[in-house]
Amino acid sequence: MRSRTGAFMLLILLFFQISSVSALTNSIDAVALLALKSELTGTPKNWKGFDPCGTNWVGISCSNGRVVNISLSNLNLQGKLSADISTLSELVTLDLTSNSNITGPLPPNIGNLKKLTELNLMGCGFDGQIPESIGNLEKLTKLSLNSNKFNGKIPASMGRLSKLYWFDIADNQIEGEIPVSNGTSSPGLDMLLQTVHFHFGKNKLSGKIPKELFTSNMTLKHLLFDGNLFTGEIPESLSLVKTLVVL
Ligand SMILES: *[C@@H]1O[C@H](CO)[C@@H](O)[C@H](O)[C@H]1NC(C)=O
Ligand SMILES: *[C@@H]1O[C@H](CO)[C@@H](O)[C@H](O)[C@H]1NC(C)=O
Ligand SMILES: *[C@@H]1O[C@H](CO)[C@@H](O)[C@H](O)[C@H]1NC(C)=O
Ligand SMILES: *[C@@H]1O[C@H](CO)[C@@H](O)[C@H](O)[C@H]1NC(C)=O
Repeated sequence: MRSRTGAFMLLILLFFQISSVSALTNSIDAVALLALKSELTGTPKNWKGFDPCGTNWVGISCSNGRVVNISLSNLNLQGKLSADISTLSELVTLDLTSNSNITGPLPPNIGNLKKLTELNLMGCGFDGQIPESIGNLEKLTKLSLNSNKFNGKIPASMGRLSKLYWFDIADNQIEGEIPVSNGTSSPGLDMLLQTVHFHFGKNKLSGKIPKELFTSNMTLKHLLFDGNLFTGEIPESLSLVKTLVVL
């Protein structure tokens, strides 16, 4: 269904590009945005035609015909996030903050967005698991998944987000234990040495808070665990984190 829609759009687009050589938008990026548009209602009124960069679609920023920033917060958008988003290979920021009627899963191939530095999805209606592939977003510095309906476990792969400054998964339905690394076989959140904010509050996380989570190399300032199902004590290793300001 999706690929048929995509193929159809590509046809329309080819027709357009043949009939008008003036389109500024890279054709793959144009197809991705048309797919995005087709799965959402409430998109900005000037989202018309087939040349988003050339006609300055509201919320879309381009550089040399490539889509680099998407900023669509608070627009009352409704629908799903198209998996075609993953073909925007130059995308740097994606901000859909406060569109509570964007529902369904975060596409599993979101990890293809290798240049992404910010993923802001606070206050949307996403559900399902946080995709494992999110650990491939190695340039990510800010991740806000808070106040959605994500469930399942925290993917251990998130430990590979070595540039992450802001980690916020608060106010979801996320369960299970906080993953920590074990040797070279599996990553874990103890590897996030650049992270200053760890917001885990208001979920269904359980088990002990692992002592391995805290090391002297961390730069954590804000650590929020409230409103979960943790058992046991706060590990003594927390005292290794000298930068901590709020617990
Ligand atoms: C895209 O966002 C980045 C990061 O916020 C910013 O530095 C850059 O100037 C933006 N580019 C455009 C074309 O708006
Ligand atoms: C979300 O959709 C529901 C049902 O269509 C509607 O009643 C509600 O007002 C919408 N909420 C927002 C914030 O747009
Ligand atoms: C590390 O974790 C992996 C995945 O959970 C597990 O298969 C493996 O046995 C663990 N290794 C050690 C040394 O604990
Ligand atoms: C943590 O810091 C110590 C001492 O500065 C260093 O030897 C060690 O390699 C660091 N560990 C990591 C994982 O960066």
